Amino acid sequence: MEDTRVYLSEREMPRQWYNVQADLPKPLPPPLHPGTLKPLGPQDMAPIFPMGLIEQEMSQQRWIDIPVEVLSIYKLWRPTPLCRAKRLEEALKTPARIYYKNEGVSPAGSHKPNTAVAQAYYNKKEGVKRLSTETGAGQWGSALAFATNVFGLECQVYMVKVSYQQKPYRRMMMETWGASVTPSPSDQTDAGRMILAQDPNSPGSLGIAISEAVNDAVQREDTRYSLGSVLNHVILHQTIVGLETKAQLKKIGVEPDVLIGCVGGGSNFAGFCFPFFPEKKQGKKIRFLGVEPTACPTLTKGLYRYDFGDTAQMAPIVKMYTLGHTFVPPGIHAGGLRYHGDAPLLCLLYDEGFVEAVAYPQNPVFEAAMLFARTEGTIPAPETAHAIRAAVDEAIKCREKKEEKVIVFNFSGHGHFDLASYDMFLSKKLEDYEYPDEKVREALQHLPDVKG
Ligand SMILES: Cc1ncc(COP(=O)(O)O)c(C=O)c1O
Repeated sequence: MEDTRVYLSEREMPRQWYNVQADLPKPLPPPLHPGTLKPLGPQDMAPIFPMGLIEQEMSQQRWIDIPVEVLSIYKLWRPTPLCRAKRLEEALKTPARIYYKNEGVSPAGSHKPNTAVAQAYYNKKEGVKRLSTETGAGQWGSALAFATNVFGLECQVYMVKVSYQQKPYRRMMMETWGASVTPSPSDQTDAGRMILAQDPNSPGSLGIAISEAVNDAVQREDTRYSLGSVLNHVILHQTIVGLETKAQLKKIGVEPDVLIGCVGGGSNFAGFCFPFFPEKKQGKKIRFLGVEPTACPTLTKGLYRYDFGDTAQMAPIVKMYTLGHTFVPPGIHAGGLRYHGDAPLLCLLYDEGFVEAVAYPQNPVFEAAMLFARTEGTIPAPETAHAIRAAVDEAIKCREKKEEKVIVFNFSGHGHFDLASYDMFLSKKLEDYEYPDEKVREALQHLPDVKG
């Protein structure tokens, strides 16, 4: 009988990240300066990021070595197991085989430390003393707090105010690893003060918190900014997930039919799928399915345009599927994944037809999360539950069509600090919300005036 979990030894851990930029079907449209609207050069990014990461952002090299210092920290929890969800399969009475890559076993509980550790390392190497960042529900902030602590850097986190108030445990986690956490919008930055002047009761958004964190970094010589998703170098670091998955599937002689991941900014999904891209490009039949909430349907309803990465228009302008940088997610939404845009690399491959996307309302997502928790045991993060919903639906289709497909999804994180959302679901307080098409059209008016 097949093992339930497939492990790699530490020695079998990949030693290089995979850079999909080397294999793109067409070049990535360049990021633009938010002030001049001209293509960004490395020097333009230097006040925000260290050169090591800027080089990776622009690199066309297919394989990039993972520094030994980063590998030695990865070994605190990597390689992560690939698990067969046998009890879920039985509950669904599906002939499909379902596997999941468990990224919830990291210290912060998600895939986010894969890039946090790498980013902290490159900053430290170039003499940066302090990192600023934003966080929504706290997953990314806690990953960076963990990573900065490991490399002896200070960490300033701007946390979306509504989450800061509703989710104190992630804040405590960040503080345990030594980070300072400020509810955003705050009066600590020009960007925060500007938003507060317009709306003193603003609940905050990721776009606003990014503006504050960038603002903080450009004002201080000792500080750089760190972003947990979207950027090319973040996706590069996350390919460790897909590379390990590939090696694990190979070990048991299994070929995947569909790879599934939830999409917030796109980093866990892209990091999981992209290492399988070279074969797909050559015609191998393997589907990449991204899953997002109907409350923030970036790929399924957004437009492929140049837009600002943040609300205050301080971050670079990139070409991506976007709901508009003025997007503020509905307050009733408990399911995570609220960023208005998506990673340019993912958007390009979606636009070229290599990636499919589907959107779900939050109640069906939490139903899938409950089913997973009650069959496989682990309580998933609400973000991860989007991927589970799609995996369950694919497995049901296999049951109906009597197909023995192999479904593999990325279990991006556990939900131990998201129990308030589960509580809302269990007490039937979650409302489904469909982001209206008119709002997408309205947001078009605020996009920067660039062709492309
Ligand atoms: C557990 C988990 N999964 C997924 C995401 C979505 O981010 P990304 O699309 O960059 O993987 C987040 C973001 O906070 C997260 O915490």
